[in-house]
Amino acid sequence: MLQSLEIELTSNKKQQPAADQLGFGNHFTDHMFIMDYSTDNGWHKPRIQPYQPIVLDPAAKVFHYGQTIFEGLKAYKTDDGRVLLFRPHKNIQRMNRSNERLSVPELNVDVVIEALKQLISVDKDWIPTAPSTSLYIRPFIIATQPQLGVAPSTHYQFIIIMSPVGAYYTEGVNPVKIFVESEYVRSVKGGVGEAKTAGNYAAGLKAQEIAKEKGYSQVLWLDGVHRKYIEEVGSMNVFFKLKGVVHTPALNGSILDGVTRNSIIQLLKHWNIEVIERPITIEELYKASQNGELEEAFGTGTAAVISPIGELNWQDDVLIINDGKTGELSKKLYDTLTGIQMGKLEDPLGWMVEA
Ligand code: COI
Repeated sequence: MLQSLEIELTSNKKQQPAADQLGFGNHFTDHMFIMDYSTDNGWHKPRIQPYQPIVLDPAAKVFHYGQTIFEGLKAYKTDDGRVLLFRPHKNIQRMNRSNERLSVPELNVDVVIEALKQLISVDKDWIPTAPSTSLYIRPFIIATQPQLGVAPSTHYQFIIIMSPVGAYYTEGVNPVKIFVESEYVRSVKGGVGEAKTAGNYAAGLKAQEIAKEKGYSQVLWLDGVHRKYIEEVGSMNVFFKLKGVVHTPALNGSILDGVTRNSIIQLLKHWNIEVIERPITIEELYKASQNGELEEAFGTGTAAVISPIGELNWQDDVLIINDGKTGELSKKLYDTLTGIQMGKLEDPLGWMVEA
């Protein structure tokens, strides 16, 4: 399917940053993948080319109506030099669900995985190997038709860029402080909350900015209708351990179906730890804490993997979780998941795909 892939290699390789200078999403590898779409030709002209700016018409629909989708996944290099991708099919399948919601044409999952493997093979020297580092892969689609009518675009570009990354939060796997957002909402059921589309992230910036000013790393999002059910934390799914049982908000149409969320649920079940997906109110969480039942809280996502929550502030009521320390289960989940991803631990659920 990708027989016509053109590869243009750069003659001007960039200097790679030191592992301790990576941060998140600041540096990009030497090459990128691009493929075009038109209603007449479908997806066509797959190519790998030197990483470079793209030229778009100022009237391109992506700028005006936000018709755009993205994904995030990671590749790792093992001690014996193999390159492993974590559940890449899940991300591309989710991309197609987002595409469907945003009236963007479907991608062939196998073609995208093949493109990804080829791109990684061209830039494999960019995969960092220091602890807590990886190659973050950002596939995305933009609507490129230069036309101002509100209607699905007739032209798109699918692009993959890659970034060697360190920890997403400067706290790493240390607990973050979270502000419970009561004024703004991230999304509502029936909207685009379960799609990985730019607008959901733009909608969150204001609250994030305010939380930062107050000394918090991120916000905890409540539902847009009742303003009482917990949805997500920052750009992550969220879990709570209450009396030995793990609870996470059920997918309800406004919550992103996280690949890490799904993996944590599977891993917990594999360990015979009970996991319940259900609506959870912020009030019951505070009550559970008062009763000594709230043992741990953590966010899950591709970027940060597991991010323990040490403190919540809901309308000036401050709740400290597990003495503000990383919980035992959060740590075990982080160590196990990153161990599997880096090829250091057995992969009991068959998640890793060799690139
Ligand atoms: C993730 O954790 O995968 C995210 O969605 C964060 C990303 C937007 C940087």
